[in-house]
Amino acid sequence: MYQPLHLKYRPQILSEVIGQQHIVDTLTNAQALHKIAPAYLFAGPKGTGKTSTARILAKSLNCQSTQEPTTQPCGECNSCKGITASSSLDVTELDAASNSGVETIRELISTTQFAPVEGKFKIFIIDECHALSNQSWQALLKTIENPPRHVVFVFCTTEVNKVPETIVSRCQKFDFRRVKLDEVINYLAIVAKSENINISLVAIKAIAKASKGHLRDSLKLLDQASLLNTEEIDPIDPNWIWELSGTIPEYELLTIIENIIRGEIKGNLGILQDWVELGKQPITIHAILVSFLKDLLVCKTYPDGKHLTQLEEDTWSELITISQSWSISQIQSAITLLMSRQNMMRDEAAHLWLSATLIELVPPAPVENTQPWQNWKNQSCAQIWAAEQLPHLTQNEISDLWEKVAPINGKKAPAWVKAINSLKAEVKKA
Ligand SMILES: Nc1ncnc2c1ncn2[C@@H]1O[C@H](COP(=O)(O)OP(=O)(O)OP(=O)(O)O)[C@@H](O)[C@H]1O
Ligand SMILES: [Mg+2]
Ligand SMILES: [Zn+2]
Repeated sequence: MYQPLHLKYRPQILSEVIGQQHIVDTLTNAQALHKIAPAYLFAGPKGTGKTSTARILAKSLNCQSTQEPTTQPCGECNSCKGITASSSLDVTELDAASNSGVETIRELISTTQFAPVEGKFKIFIIDECHALSNQSWQALLKTIENPPRHVVFVFCTTEVNKVPETIVSRCQKFDFRRVKLDEVINYLAIVAKSENINISLVAIKAIAKASKGHLRDSLKLLDQASLLNTEEIDPIDPNWIWELSGTIPEYELLTIIENIIRGEIKGNLGILQDWVELGKQPITIHAILVSFLKDLLVCKTYPDGKHLTQLEEDTWSELITISQSWSISQIQSAITLLMSRQNMMRDEAAHLWLSATLIELVPPAPVENTQPWQNWKNQSCAQIWAAEQLPHLTQNEISDLWEKVAPINGKKAPAWVKAINSLKAEVKKA
């Protein structure tokens, strides 16, 4: 039977949880010391292991292979199997997003007084708990403050700021983090190997970057990519990953920057058009551009700072070359310009705004053959200019000169500039 990777690879014991070492250590110690809290709060970004860890905790508490809570649940007993299959009589999982009403919670609370059936604890895992109604929290508060000895609550949430402070302060709180890029890469490489997925390291890195530390997302992407690669002869190409994930490859971002520097507006509008046709949202493109320009700024100010970005080695060395054609203040104004358009990216005409911004990012070409007389309004402007060119001359000498210079083709200004310039050349020679 086909099982999606993110379900097949759900961690079953604490040591299989990736990138949450602080949580794994604390929970392991607590179990070794038999210090079980009546209520836990697992907070953090989506797909980082909250529900998985809650289930592992439930297994650890109820595994029938030992008398006491264990860090090594067997995975084989009725209780462990029941928890994996979500059918354990002692473990209740509630999705608060779809059951937020107080009636459900009252019912749940009324069952806390009964002893567990096969395990040592009755465990309530409340997922998306931030969705519970105020009344529901009120109803829960008393039970959490004074719970029966055999009851453990595990509240999971991606939005801990919406959980009432009175509840947070009564729970043991664990903060799940986004998993670090290196850890995601290592993990995906292991999964790909054991699944015989033919994928290059570059493509794995692309997946890891695109999923931004959400491990579930990264496994889903790997899954999708492996389904695309039915030929299995060539390894999965990173370009597919960019397409699947809706992000933008770094070499295209480099091209955008190069085009800005070269003033190739048309090229950039073409790239933007392609992205939009591939279904990339202007708001995403905008965010990616800003982030890339920030990386360029890091590169310009701190050429050893690659580790401060998530860029590929190749991209970084190209950025170093590119950054030589741009001053820090130019990069900063490009970022400022983009940021000032952020709100417009939610607009219906976002694509248009983004095109306009890409055009504006190109610095105006220098005006060719600028002549000094372009801004002169009258004779005294011409004389002031001459005084700047030849500071050793007095006002009177300049006035005399002016009288002597004959117009060329009826125009005096070009003749004046020619005369002053040749005088200047003579002064230099002397
Ligand atoms: N820290 C992790 N270690 C190993 N696998 C993980 C981890 N986090 C997520 N996963 C993978 O992602 C899947 C989903 O994880 P889980 O349900 O625990 O995330 P969650 O934090 O509860 O997310 P959500 O907030 O969306 O409910 C797991 O089955 C597993 O394959
Ligand atoms: Mg969850
Ligand atoms: Zn067991």
